[in-house]
Amino acid sequence: MTQKSAEAGPAKAAKAATTAKAEAPASVAGYRQPTGEETLSIVNLNDLEAEAAKVLPKGGFAFISSGADNQVTLRDNLAAFERIQLRPHYLVGKPAPETKVTLFGQELTLPVITAPMGAHGLAHASAELGTARGTAVAGTLMTVSTAANKTLEDVASASTGPKWFQLYLQEDQGKSRELIQRAEKAGYSAIVFTIDAFAPGSSDEANRLGFSFPPSLPFANTGTATFKPSLTWEDVDFIKETTDLPLILKGVLSPDVAEKAIKRGVNGIQVSNHGGRQLDGVQAAIDALPAVAGAVKGRVPVIMDGGVRRGTDVFKAIALGANAVALGRPVLYGLALGGAKGVESVYGQLQAELVRTMTIAGTANIAEISRKYVL
Ligand SMILES: Cc1cc2nc3c(=O)[nH]c(=O)nc-3n(C[C@H](O)[C@H](O)[C@H](O)COP(=O)(O)O)c2cc1C
Repeated sequence: MTQKSAEAGPAKAAKAATTAKAEAPASVAGYRQPTGEETLSIVNLNDLEAEAAKVLPKGGFAFISSGADNQVTLRDNLAAFERIQLRPHYLVGKPAPETKVTLFGQELTLPVITAPMGAHGLAHASAELGTARGTAVAGTLMTVSTAANKTLEDVASASTGPKWFQLYLQEDQGKSRELIQRAEKAGYSAIVFTIDAFAPGSSDEANRLGFSFPPSLPFANTGTATFKPSLTWEDVDFIKETTDLPLILKGVLSPDVAEKAIKRGVNGIQVSNHGGRQLDGVQAAIDALPAVAGAVKGRVPVIMDGGVRRGTDVFKAIALGANAVALGRPVLYGLALGGAKGVESVYGQLQAELVRTMTIAGTANIAEISRKYVL
């Protein structure tokens, strides 16, 4: 894993971005995809957004970066992390921190995984294949979206790293069954059922720019982006009956949904508001986490996503009851700026920050991070 030194500075990050641009973006019928492959010097993950804006077509950048409506939830996902205060434990004589975790039997280098995101082709010519390679080299897990630009089979063979398949349920039950069976056959180790989205995220900025998905970047698994327009608990039963793979429910914001899900046989809970891209005005994901984790009571793993940008954010989420967090936009920015190596650099930075946080807070491993480390 590539660790960056602090002296690299924004100038160097900017240089990497410029280089990526200079390497003649691939033009897929008018959509200019970056093609650069390079390790990035990252000072922090927040900086990546402005750098990615320089190398991405305006519409693609707006689609990736924006939130829904007034973007209140998008902003609050970040602001809520800043409101949480840490409580370090000093003079406790801990060894160098170990960030490894085991999630559904799979050992990961750090408790951070790649969140499911559609259309990685908007970020880079390698699309989901680059993300899969970068995530695997970082030693962690990728969740592959139904709305990927590469087929789930091609993403599965792009790397040997562990992968989950995120399911957008299709109106035609046969098509959903087919997707689940394809994922099983291709070696995916869990199904993530997203319950909070009925269409791709719509943002004012993307609409202002007249953004639409380039026909040259099709949704490789389904042809077009299709969603079942109404979801019920029977849909959860259907997935459970269709597969023996662990089922993770993504988009949980309340303890009662978590409780019902576990009673229904769901094997994991992902606390998420879809990165503020769906219903604007809902609670920040990190604010929803403690009550959900309280209801789950350790019966199944809890994953949290939305606004994770710092090692301290990862630490806070674990302290408040998550077993792991999922990373969204920063992964796509890393991909845009440096392909698979850019994704690896993003994880390298987060890993280094997490180690630094754990060292100062006084925790030797992830299991030690608990409620007593937050106020
Ligand atoms: C461009 C983009 C596409 C996304 N597509 C999906 C998707 O196909 N399925 C899904 O469950 N979530 C999707 N999400 C939501 C992410 O899984 C995740 O909840 C969110 O990005 C986390 O917030 P963060 O970007 O602040 O880290 C998408 C997010 C982005 C930014």
